[in-house]
Amino acid sequence: MTKREIITVPHPTLRKKAAKVTDFNDELQELVEDMVESMREDNGVGLAAPQINISQQVITIEFGNEEDESIPPTLYVVVNPKITSRSQEKDVGVEGCLSVPGWMGEVERPVSVRIEGQTQKGEPFKMRARGWLARIFQHEIDHLNGIVFTDRADEVWEPEGEVVDLV
Ligand code: NI
Repeated sequence: MTKREIITVPHPTLRKKAAKVTDFNDELQELVEDMVESMREDNGVGLAAPQINISQQVITIEFGNEEDESIPPTLYVVVNPKITSRSQEKDVGVEGCLSVPGWMGEVERPVSVRIEGQTQKGEPFKMRARGWLARIFQHEIDHLNGIVFTDRADEVWEPEGEVVDLV
């Protein structure tokens, strides 16, 4: 496994639509391993391949149980992920991103979503996520469409600094 450099805005790869993965070869397996290592080393809860300058539809997420911190976090690897349904109900949460270092922002998103895609071996993948996990999936899938959270935030701020309006 190799830790890869995480690119930051305004790198153009972060604005491209990522390509669909069609070949579940060794190169993909290596990409997934490197993404997991890069995500863990930088203490991220999620990473999308464009963030390491690979414009392909792959995301990794590692997130624990919101109610019980004694349960170890679950690792999700999804290739070609799509959101196939969204709850009407929305909520607002504070997000940050390894590709937008030092900034946070409030983003409104659906509370629960259904995700479909493939595993890293090409098997069908389907799940429903709620709460923070749903938020993380939406944030990472946005990266595959060239969207960063500051596009969706009404305002952003530096943790120690002033609120900046993005209008
Ligand atoms: Ni991000």
